[in-house]
Amino acid sequence: MTGHAQKLEVSSLTVTGDGGRRLLCVDSLTIAAGSAVVVRGPSGAGKSTFLYALAGMIAPETGQIRWGETDIAPLPEPARAAFRRRNMGFVFQEHLVFEELSAPENAAIAALYSGRADRGRIRDRAAAELARLGLDGVGTRRSDTFSGGERQRIAVARALAGGPGIILADEPTASLDRDNADRLARDLVTLARTEGRTLIAVSHDPALHERADRLIDIVDGRLLEAADG
Ligand SMILES: Nc1ncnc2c1ncn2[C@@H]1O[C@H](COP(=O)(O)OP(=O)(O)O)[C@@H](O)[C@H]1O
Ligand SMILES: [Mg+2]
Repeated sequence: MTGHAQKLEVSSLTVTGDGGRRLLCVDSLTIAAGSAVVVRGPSGAGKSTFLYALAGMIAPETGQIRWGETDIAPLPEPARAAFRRRNMGFVFQEHLVFEELSAPENAAIAALYSGRADRGRIRDRAAAELARLGLDGVGTRRSDTFSGGERQRIAVARALAGGPGIILADEPTASLDRDNADRLARDLVTLARTEGRTLIAVSHDPALHERADRLIDIVDGRLLEAADG
């Protein structure tokens, strides 16, 4: 992974769902490299759709999604996936860890898709992230023996293990208890600030809101706050 934070510039973005329904419409949005942004909004407002589009996991109908020098919007799916692997860590709302794998295996899964030179580094970083999230010393237990909150932390370690310059997280603290949620909120924002990564997290969690550089609200597929970047 390139590992440096990237500026985001979105313009004239529209995302359309099955049946032609307009799910998202963003006229213009700029997010500074290295900032921590939290996206809020009611259920069904389009928050996950927005995050998936920024990650290149869904193709927009129109518009630009420029990360640094690269507009990912017009790229075919394999090129978007390659960009994502090089530059992004994604934490899904459902943790999506592989139940039959151990915590270290899950956290280091990106090593499977990387060149030989990166594999050891990814495994080392995966172990370090697990430790930082309080999951060191768990050995080779299958991940389905962990609690929901623990699995979410494994998912976070996995997102960070590749050293991404961009971290995208969909409700990352939703399944954690208060103490763990606070700690994860702090860790994610600290990462963005001190290690120069751009963080965009969808969250209802006040612990994330109060630490964010900027809050963006989405209602009915439209961004309400999109002032300075
Ligand atoms: N592929 C799709 N086709 C049609 N509608 C979709 C599709 N994906 C999501 N939606 C709908 O778009 C709206 C926004 O979804 P989502 O982005 O998941 O909202 P949020 O994350 O804010 O709760 C919801 O009404 C959802 O049902
Ligand atoms: Mg959602």
